Amino acid sequence: MLNIAVFASGNGSNLEVLLNTQFNQGKIALVLSNNPSAYALQRAKNHNIAHICINKKEVGEKFESEILKAMQKHHIDCIVLAGFMLILSADFISHFPNKIINIHPSLIPAFCGDGFYGMRVHEAVLEYGAKVSGASVHFVNEIVDGGKIIAQEAINLSEDETPQSLQTKVAQVEHRILPQAVQFLIDSILTKEQHETLH
Ligand code: GRF
Repeated sequence: MLNIAVFASGNGSNLEVLLNTQFNQGKIALVLSNNPSAYALQRAKNHNIAHICINKKEVGEKFESEILKAMQKHHIDCIVLAGFMLILSADFISHFPNKIINIHPSLIPAFCGDGFYGMRVHEAVLEYGAKVSGASVHFVNEIVDGGKIIAQEAINLSEDETPQSLQTKVAQVEHRILPQAVQFLIDSILTKEQHETLH
């Protein structure tokens, strides 16, 4: 059974879906936030799941080493970034190679990377006149939104689409593909470990 940590900075609707999903050979063992008022922390509490807030404003340079300590303490095998608003360093990521995934509210490689987060993504999609958008789940590497895509689903934009209506549609897609991607992550780690054991 793999222990999964979910990192979330805000509302945590994706986290909620994960907390309500029964995974095969994996469980949500910890919810971590950088934001003391993130509703995601309350969601973890409601589900009786261990949760921790590490506030970068308070711990400064120790931010990532504090996160690593929490990962060790809770025996975390892999990490899901579900609305985590801070960028993790290459050094941190190297502790979890191919074991961190992220959900992004557009069809990567469009409307992603530095500065594309939250409502800004949907505003940019509409400003550009794009006719489709969607959501992507990808492995996290040292390039922001640059790792290999695991799951992706497109939606057609309507003529009267607004950033808000697009956000609602994208969220529905996210809630569908994220649990599938998490199960894929679990399976990929276990398969790899089995290979390592066999050789
Ligand atoms: C989602 O749109 C996700 O793609 C992005 O942040 C948002 C988080 O939403 N990375 P929620 O907190 O899960 O409701």
